[in-house]
Amino acid sequence: MFRRIFAVFSGIASLVFIIALPSQAQEQWSWPEKPENLQVLPKDWPGSRLSAPMRGFTRALGVRCSYCHVGEEGKPLSTYDFASDENQNKNRTREMLRMLGSVNKHLDKLEPSGDKRVNMWCHTCHRGRPRPMTLGEELGETYRAKGVEAALALYTELKKNYYGKGVYNFEGERALNEFGYAALGNNDAAGAIRVFQLNVDKFPESANGWDSLAEAYMKAGDMKMAEKYYEKSLELNPRNQNASDMLKKIKEDEGD
Ligand code: HEC
Ligand code: HEC
Repeated sequence: MFRRIFAVFSGIASLVFIIALPSQAQEQWSWPEKPENLQVLPKDWPGSRLSAPMRGFTRALGVRCSYCHVGEEGKPLSTYDFASDENQNKNRTREMLRMLGSVNKHLDKLEPSGDKRVNMWCHTCHRGRPRPMTLGEELGETYRAKGVEAALALYTELKKNYYGKGVYNFEGERALNEFGYAALGNNDAAGAIRVFQLNVDKFPESANGWDSLAEAYMKAGDMKMAEKYYEKSLELNPRNQNASDMLKKIKEDEGD
């Protein structure tokens, strides 16, 4: 039973495991006949019914059993203590299950506008990550903890691992723009300039990207560069009211 499940989310790893450890490959873990500690899922569920939701959780969050259970990655599952609540993520997940229950109660009140109601899954929010943040939020969090360079390194790493997988939105200037504003909000104009500059290098057609870069230069007190980039932004989008207001202001200040 377990081997089949293991194969689903880790086919290659399980093969290696079997070859390397032929005796342990027969590892006698199976779903408990009677789970001891179900608090949200129906208490009378036999252990085998847990297989689908547990596997679903690992896929929806892009994690392994040990993310929510007491046990060590790489050790046989028979050494895990699945009934224990010591791993915080287990209770967090219970709260998520309760949340889904209440969301579904609200959704049930709506007349579906399609042929059937849209389901809400863990995956709807999590999209293969344990904490469902946008790319901009994720970069902002790393920036606040470790600074600009660490966040830019994270951007490169996430792009390498997740591009095209529908986990993060790498299209357009939005994510780096959001990250740049996290720096600007932190009075870190130099950091913001670094991020916005990278953004316009990647997305040179984005009027919004140039507008943000101009704003960071303005905060840094470099009116010349601010003027240049507001002009660039206006060129790309003649209806950018903010850029024309700012240009007017810069010219007025120059006149003083
Ligand atoms: C995202 C978190 C999460 C992941 C990942 C996860 N579980 Fe669970 N698991 C839970 C929660 C929460 C419960 C308790 C549900 C409840 O209280 O109704 C649970 C309960 C169980 C139980 C019942 C234990 C008992 O005796 O009460 C078993 C067995 C179990 N999980 C096995 C697994 C296995 C095997 C995996 C990996 C394939 C896994 N789980 C992955 C959150 C998770
Ligand atoms: C409505 C959106 C939404 C749905 C649906 C949802 N989650 Fe979450 N979940 C979140 C958010 C947002 C957080 C992050 C909270 C934070 O860290 O600030 C989170 C956090 C978590 C965490 C803690 C992660 C950590 O490292 O702190 C776990 C575990 C988790 N969710 C599991 C699940 C599971 C399993 C399901 C499906 C049963 C689920 N979630 C459904 C939005 C959702």
